[in-house]
Amino acid sequence: MILEPTPANLTRAIMALREGGLVSFPTETVYGLGARVEDERAVAEIFARKGRPSFNPLIVHVDGVETAKRYVVWNDAAEKLAVVFWPGPLTLVLSRAAGSKASLLASAGGDSLAVRAPAHSVAQSLLKGLGEGIAAPSANKSGRISPTRAEHVAEEFGDDLLILDAGACEVGIESTVVDVRSRVITILRPGSITREQLEHALGTPVATLTRSDGGKLASPGMLESHYAPTLPVRLNATTVEANEALLAFSGNVPSGAATVRNLSPSGDMVEAAANLFAMLRDLDQPQWKAIAVMPIPSTGLGEAILDRLQRAAAERKAS
Ligand code: TXA
Ligand code: MG
Repeated sequence: MILEPTPANLTRAIMALREGGLVSFPTETVYGLGARVEDERAVAEIFARKGRPSFNPLIVHVDGVETAKRYVVWNDAAEKLAVVFWPGPLTLVLSRAAGSKASLLASAGGDSLAVRAPAHSVAQSLLKGLGEGIAAPSANKSGRISPTRAEHVAEEFGDDLLILDAGACEVGIESTVVDVRSRVITILRPGSITREQLEHALGTPVATLTRSDGGKLASPGMLESHYAPTLPVRLNATTVEANEALLAFSGNVPSGAATVRNLSPSGDMVEAAANLFAMLRDLDQPQWKAIAVMPIPSTGLGEAILDRLQRAAAERKAS
């Protein structure tokens, strides 16, 4: 339902987020589809609703620098840029803080996390009222253009999604995404803040991620050094050996594994996605020979889960 951002409706949206629901909210760039960043299952639900065939990392929206520091390792470049451009359409990619409570899916299993403080007053009220970060991609189905009006969001997601309506977004194009982890600051996605503006604020040149081989622009999310287990990954395991760790799915678990984690005993794909990265890390211990993974259906989020597991298996083979 499309709601005006009255105080009562903001409270309603905050309650929905606290209960693990999704809320679409306006920012100065485009509308976002948000979930509590500390609720892994709610973040998994974002991927389910977007219909993404793979896990792309998500921007964590925060009210400002202090909240960002709960999730990422802050540094001088981040500080310089935040002083000038926050709140506003600039997203900073930083390393996850040790003990960060941010969803692992928001990092797509990697060690970095993107943070941005939006300038829009409705986004700010929502973030302040909630008291934690909101993971949010643009509120469009996978492969569609970003929505700049509440009606666009409703067209894509239907009437059951709570959408806070603040009219048309002022900027209309997405935030600039900048990797500030190393000495060379790199634009991963051009956006409403220009390279010249960034260079002026930093006093140093800024690189732009250029077209790689074949002229195809690699998606920033794909360039991330994603977490790959150290152990070999064996897919479609229907039996398991005594020295293997088992990543199970559903209730029909083969016996005999050294240790077992079950993505979802009831076969729920959203639960499985929410558990994926944490369970892979849990099982990746040097005392086992391999991680055996039970067959997982490719329906719904299964496609993204399988994409991640297939890459984990292939990355290990390649090295
Ligand atoms: O203006 C915006 O940025 C909007 C509003 C809602 O804030 N959000 C948005 O999110 O455009 P999304 O998910 O549609 O695009 C986020 C971009 C993607 O290109 C993603 O790959 C990149 O940011 N990104 C997110 N986290 C990243 C990370 N840890 N490392 C590298 N790239 C990341
Ligand atoms: Mg998008």
